[in-house]
Amino acid sequence: MPRHLLSIADLDAAAIRMLLDTAASMQDVQRREVKKIPTLRGRTVINLFFEDSTRTRSSFEIAGKWMSADTINITGKGSSTSKGESLPDTVMTIDAMGVDALVMRHSASGAAHQVAGWVKARVVNAGDGTHEHPTQALLDAFTMEQRLGTLAGRHVAIVGDLTHSRVFRSNVLALRMLGAHVTAVAPVTLMPSGITPWAQADGFALSHDLDAVLTGERPVDALMMLRVQRERMAGGFFPTPREYTVGYGLTRPRLQTLLAANPEAVICHPGPMNRGLEISADAADAAASVILDQVAAGVAVRMSVLYHLLAGEEGSAA
Ligand code: NCD
Repeated sequence: MPRHLLSIADLDAAAIRMLLDTAASMQDVQRREVKKIPTLRGRTVINLFFEDSTRTRSSFEIAGKWMSADTINITGKGSSTSKGESLPDTVMTIDAMGVDALVMRHSASGAAHQVAGWVKARVVNAGDGTHEHPTQALLDAFTMEQRLGTLAGRHVAIVGDLTHSRVFRSNVLALRMLGAHVTAVAPVTLMPSGITPWAQADGFALSHDLDAVLTGERPVDALMMLRVQRERMAGGFFPTPREYTVGYGLTRPRLQTLLAANPEAVICHPGPMNRGLEISADAADAAASVILDQVAAGVAVRMSVLYHLLAGEEGSAA
């Protein structure tokens, strides 16, 4: 296990396996009536979020609390950064108090990596700009494995705003390490520049045609719909929302096509969803949807990550 969790690229298949196996025992804690284990007693975890978040921030906080760590939330708006304090000054100030882990979300790609160079605490990247969101990829893999068994040889299609998606980047790395086939699907305007050589190097497929992927030779086992990130878009990446939905939304007819080709297929979305844009209500609420399982897995996976970063040799898993 590396000192920090900044990117899925810091891990290998064995480390991912270890994190997912520990997450499974953490899920036993999640199912107990009394959700408290002493594993991180005396450790302090700071959630430092410079971007909005519902599930990531609260699940890190819950994960820390259930393991008896002291957890504190700091947001950009309520902190001294709004008085003009620089990022290094803010994080070094928090670090000087003697905290053990900094869970960080920031709009700049590479921010968590930089912070790791400035502090003594362990750093967990909870999303840096359009770069990576490693715990999301781990919880996605955990959820998919729960429903599909091993991911080796399974076909995962990731659809939508790939350009702005850190979830996409982390997922491709994790899924390829776990042996899944990955197809990345997006309109030309939402494919990140340089994706063609990257896809060749990492061995994943590209498509601009969602319908062709859903009816292709290799049935889709997991369909991961990504949010259209309008807050990161400066210009027009597609003509109208309606046209985006027609081309790339998981509409009711596409849901039927997916399940006709593979009745066991699952639907994932990291949230927050734009219902009616990238995913229809029928699909989001279908029996095939594992979207709330992803949320539940988020706590167990984050417990596992904090445990492996902080518990040291004397800790015990559950
Ligand atoms: C994602 C994020 O913030 O990167 N959400 C999440 O963490 N669950 C994806 C998104 O914002 O669309």
